[in-house]
Amino acid sequence: MPKAKQGKTTRSGNESAGPRSARCRESARNGHRRRGGAPARCRNSTRERPICAQTGACATTAYSPDCSKRAFELPILGLDIIVLPGVWSPAYDWSSLFYVENLPVVRGLDFLEIGCGTGVISVHAARAGARRVVAVDVNPEAVTNTKLNFERFGVECGEAFVSDGFGAVTGRFDVVTWNAPYHGAPPADMLERGCTDENYRDIRSFFANVMGYLKPDGTVVFGFSESGDLPLIERLISDSGFRVRRKLSDWRQGYNCMLFDLTTESV
Ligand SMILES: C[S@@+](CC[C@H](N)C(=O)[O-])C[C@H]1O[C@@H](n2cnc3c(N)ncnc32)[C@H](O)[C@@H]1O
Repeated sequence: MPKAKQGKTTRSGNESAGPRSARCRESARNGHRRRGGAPARCRNSTRERPICAQTGACATTAYSPDCSKRAFELPILGLDIIVLPGVWSPAYDWSSLFYVENLPVVRGLDFLEIGCGTGVISVHAARAGARRVVAVDVNPEAVTNTKLNFERFGVECGEAFVSDGFGAVTGRFDVVTWNAPYHGAPPADMLERGCTDENYRDIRSFFANVMGYLKPDGTVVFGFSESGDLPLIERLISDSGFRVRRKLSDWRQGYNCMLFDLTTESV
């Protein structure tokens, strides 16, 4: 199992400015609300820690050396995950944590993640023994971010590259996963593609194509939420020939996250 490399970090109590504030406004507009009305993604996580300029993370990106306001790191189940600006942060909601907590068995398996973001899920899959990890995102900053986290945590079985859905992916996998955007409004920018997919076009395309990237008896793990168009997702699942082996749905901090574990086997 790869060992985590520790970088030098400093603490900051305030990461509320910048993209996250914009995200909060958009999330509210798109109906990404907690029970009780407050937008879930406006929470200001006090666990976020900025990465200082000396860690090397910033040196490998084009961002301002003022890293304390730009990149930061976030502990997710014991790993301090680097989060770059412009990349969907696992602090926006708890879906990434939920996914990692419920990671399917991946030991010895080939694992493909669509929409890797920071790479947090793929890093955990590699550390759980996946044989091969392919992590793709339509957002080039997310790919840079994932590569940084692969490097930080010594993920040698991992590769990350830009791909719109399966566009640049080749081969077949035992597990294909996407912690997907929940909403169907038009995204304003690349960061917003983390939480909204216009008319669910990319999610429709995912279900139309995923079978071609699965090994026989492979598994799809799809992350979604009751705050999105759940009837559509359930229809896409059955129309594409999958059965639901396991459906997890949980509320934390007034916000719902779901995981569908899908198979083509009889269940
Ligand atoms: C909810 S975020 C999840 C990020 C990460 N997997 C996590 O759990 O922290 C959804 C991710 O999907 C990516 N994405 C959106 N549309 C995509 C597409 N058509 N192809 C690949 N990635 C896409 C976004 O850029 C974003 O990183």
